[in-house]
Formats: sequence, C-alpha cells, structure tokens
Amino acid sequence: MSESTPLIYKDDYEEFSLSKRAKIILSTAGVIVAAATLWLLCVFLPGKFIPEAVPLEAISKVSELGVRLEPLTRTRVEELGLGDWSGVAGAIDQDESEDSEDDDNYAEQLTSRPSKEVPGVERLIMIGDIHGHYSEFMKLLKKLHYNPSKDHVLVLGDFITKGPDSKKVLDFLIENDIDCIMGNHELYVLRYYAQYHSLRAPFFHDNETGTFTSMAMSNSGFNDDPEFLLAKRLVPDQVKYINKCSIIKTLGKVPLHKTKNEGGPRSTEGVAVHAGLRWDLELNDQDPIENLEMRSYIGPFYNKTTDDPFEDNAVSWSKIFNMKQKEKESEDTLAVYYGHDARRSLSLKKFTKGIDTGCDKGEYLTAMVLWNEIGENKKGKKRVLYKEQSVQIKC
Ligand SMILES: *[C@@H]1O[C@H](CO)[C@@H](O)[C@H](O)[C@H]1NC(C)=O
Ligand SMILES: *[C@@H]1O[C@H](CO)[C@@H](O)[C@H](O)[C@H]1NC(C)=O
Repeated sequence: MSESTPLIYKDDYEEFSLSKRAKIILSTAGVIVAAATLWLLCVFLPGKFIPEAVPLEAISKVSELGVRLEPLTRTRVEELGLGDWSGVAGAIDQDESEDSEDDDNYAEQLTSRPSKEVPGVERLIMIGDIHGHYSEFMKLLKKLHYNPSKDHVLVLGDFITKGPDSKKVLDFLIENDIDCIMGNHELYVLRYYAQYHSLRAPFFHDNETGTFTSMAMSNSGFNDDPEFLLAKRLVPDQVKYINKCSIIKTLGKVPLHKTKNEGGPRSTEGVAVHAGLRWDLELNDQDPIENLEMRSYIGPFYNKTTDDPFEDNAVSWSKIFNMKQKEKESEDTLAVYYGHDARRSLSLKKFTKGIDTGCDKGEYLTAMVLWNEIGENKKGKKRVLYKEQSVQIKC
C-alpha cells in the first residue's frame, strides 16, 4: 500500500491538475448551457409559442362595403351559372312589380357614381357562420367558382372557434383579402386576447360622435376554454384581421322581393350584421353587443333584445323587424343579412335573410350571392335587376 501511495498521489495530482482545467472548461460550458437554456425558456420559446402582443384598435361600429356591383349582361350571368330568370316574375308582389319609377334605374345607376371611386365587382358573396370548418368553406367556394379578382366575399361573423381549423380559416381570409363582419365569438376571442396580454379591452368607434365605448371584461382569468387557448395562439396579423371586422356594414342597394333565391327591379338599402339589428334605432345608435348576440326581441314593446329565444315574451327578431319595415315608408327600409341563429337555420324573409345553417352541427354552410343584371321592362327599356340566390354545401 505504502509503495503505491506516491504513485497514486502523483496520479491524483495529475488528475487534479487535469480536472482543474476540465472544471474551468466544464463550468464555462455550464454557464453557456445555462445561459442558452435561460434564453431558450425566457426569450426563444415564448417568442415561438406566445406570439408577440399587439394592442387592439377601435372596432368600427358601422362601415361601408367599399365595392359596387357592376350590372352584368344576360350572357355573363349564364356563364357564371347564376340564378334562373324564369322563376323571377312570379316572385315579385303584384303591387310592386311594375313600378314606373324603376324604368329609369339603369340610367341612374350608370350615371350616379359614388363620390369616391369604388371598385366594381361581379358578385357579392356573403357566407354564414363557418366556425373553423376550413374544408367545408373551401368546398363552398369551389361550388361558387370563387374568383378573387371579380367576387367580393363577406363572411358574416363566427368564422372562427368551435370547428377544427380556425387558424387555417383566418389565414385564408387574410391571404385572400376577404371582407368580414365581426361575430360574437370573434369578439370573445379578442376579449380573451386582451385579458391574456393585459391589454385594454376591445372597444368600439362610433362614427357619429367619434367616441369610444369599451367592452366589459370579465375577471375570469386564465382558463382552458378553447376560445382562450385560441386567443393565446393568435399572431399579430390574425389579431389585426379580426380587429378590423366591422359590427355593421352598409351594402348599398340589395334585392327587394318576396320569395327566396330570386329578385327583380326592386331594391332597398342593405346591411350585414352578425346577429341582428334593433328596428327602433339608427345604425350608429345600435349597441354592438346586441348586434352580435340578439336572437329575439322582448315584448310588449320589442325595444329590448335577448339571445335566448325561450325567454318570456321573446319573439324572433326577424319577425318583428319585417313587420316594422313593412309599416315604414318604402324609401327608408333596410334589408338585413345575418348569421348567428343556427337553430332557426335558413330564414329568408323580405327584409331579413338569416344564413347560419349550422355547419358546425354537421348541417349546411350557406352563401348568399348577390348580383346586378341588365334586364328589360315590357317596353324593351333597359333596367337593372337586383338578384340573389342562396347556395349551400353539406357539412
Ligand atoms: C366609420 O369610422 C371608421 C373608422 O374611422 C371607418 O373605417 C369607417 O369607414 C366609417 N364608417 C362610415 C360609414 O363612414
Ligand atoms: C320601451 O318602450 C317603452 C314604451 O315606449 C318605454 O316605456 C320603455 O322605457 C322602453 N324601454 C327601453 C329599454 O328602451
């Protein structure tokens, strides 16, 4: 033992001197690894999985569509496979069908250009609640022979949440510069986004007064609600897209007729909104939360709304809205295109067109296609016909 001790000592000494260098190298490496790990955990991964936050902008309460429908020739209408002229005459009320004032509408439409030059499109395609069903959305666009350079697509809210591919739907909408109306679920996602990133709650811009009103924020904190999880994953471009969707859009002239899928020489002003409008308030005075959530008015005055159709004295908002429009002077009427009410499904009335047909419940995804057509009256004079047709695919 004693003989071998120096040797061991020597070895130990050599090992010690070697391991001292190694220790320096190791500890340096350790510091580098620790720093890298810290950087990975605190900078790189959050950057990758917790997208950068962008502050929310004011949500527009009322905005204009920004395109106009160019009157199409009969030949072009047939090329596009739109509608069926044969059934239209019977669809117009007897007392409304041959207004002489309509005879001049062609010349009027061609001469009365809006003050700022608005691009012309062939079709306005409004689509009901897509709810993240990307493949069904693609199927519907394919059926419509969607042409991004000639069609203006407007999704009527609730295009994300519930279904499997919300982010894919969002990216498609962004890439194709598709127009949108905000739905209640987009607003809830924005609220969660603001909550998660400690930002100001979503707020609305009022065109009339120029003031802003904020949405109430719940203090429910972090949770595992799928909408919260979606909100966490949104990247700036996706947030900006949702944030720019307007509560109400004015559409200009839309068809005014009785039965579904047709049209004629009569028109009225049209608006798009996710859930509904208060019949007793101007567009600028509407409450965005009501516009995004209502399903029924509450009697006896029908000046309150509810999202619960089974509440006492609740009557379908579209029923009362139609009644109130019919009581009005014809020039002031509004036709409303909306979604939100999958339970009542396709509901095409004279002044309200509900097109949420429950794709998320495996039912249908519906588009309402609007176009203008050059027609003739009985005397052979040219006039514009306002047409629309609903198109569906099975989900
Ligand atoms: C209302 O204001 C917003 C934001 O300033 C604007 O984008 C929108 O076009 C305005 N709407 C109308 C109808 O003027
Ligand atoms: C609804 O209308 C009635 C009768 O005009 C009125 O007394 C009531 O205050 C209104 N309610 C709301 C919420 O505007």
